[in-house]
Amino acid sequence: MRQYDHEILNIIKERWSPRAISSDPVDKEDIKGILEAARFAPSCFNEQPWRFIVAYEQYGLNKMRNLLADSNQVWANSAPVLILVLAFKKFAYNGKENFWAKFDTGTSWGFMSLEAANRGLVTHAMGGFNRKEAASIYSLDDETEPIAIVALGKYGDPKDLTPELREREYPSDRNKQEEFVVWDTE
Ligand SMILES: Cc1cc2nc3c(=O)[nH]c(=O)nc-3n(C[C@H](O)[C@H](O)[C@H](O)COP(=O)(O)O)c2cc1C
Repeated sequence: MRQYDHEILNIIKERWSPRAISSDPVDKEDIKGILEAARFAPSCFNEQPWRFIVAYEQYGLNKMRNLLADSNQVWANSAPVLILVLAFKKFAYNGKENFWAKFDTGTSWGFMSLEAANRGLVTHAMGGFNRKEAASIYSLDDETEPIAIVALGKYGDPKDLTPELREREYPSDRNKQEEFVVWDTE
């Protein structure tokens, strides 16, 4: 059970990462809305270093599913949309390394996940995929790094999960603020 020690936006409370994802298609307009939320994330120098490859038709989905670790394929293969999140690691304006590229790309994924929740959809990010193979099949250049694959869809039926995954199918709690916040007082 999640415990909230302070009042926060409802949509943050509502977002979580289920594994029971229905294979029902998602409206393209919803996919675009979610990407629009990602678009308006803040970024260093407004560089907008995030890049997304969206798979929502059979051809693209099969390609992206093959990149996932077996432990993720077990549940994520039912998702009607998979989004490969990439970070472009150089500043376009001067060609120098953008140290904040992954930070900003993470913000865009956060915005995306909240927009999806707001539309009654669920998202589940996965780091468990073959990044090298992703770079190869999508012909990525050295400056573009695959970060995560996000499963997007409607909430499904937990009965379709393996017994082990079904047991873990609930919103997880968090560390207490005391464990990760330092108040720098005298
Ligand atoms: C970058 C990233 C990588 C993740 N990788 C996986 C993964 O490979 N497989 C998986 O089942 N969940 C994965 N997760 C989901 C996390 O386990 C989940 O977000 C975390 O337990 C918190 O739960 P919540 O999102 O339901 O609040 C990942 C999440 C993030 C943000």
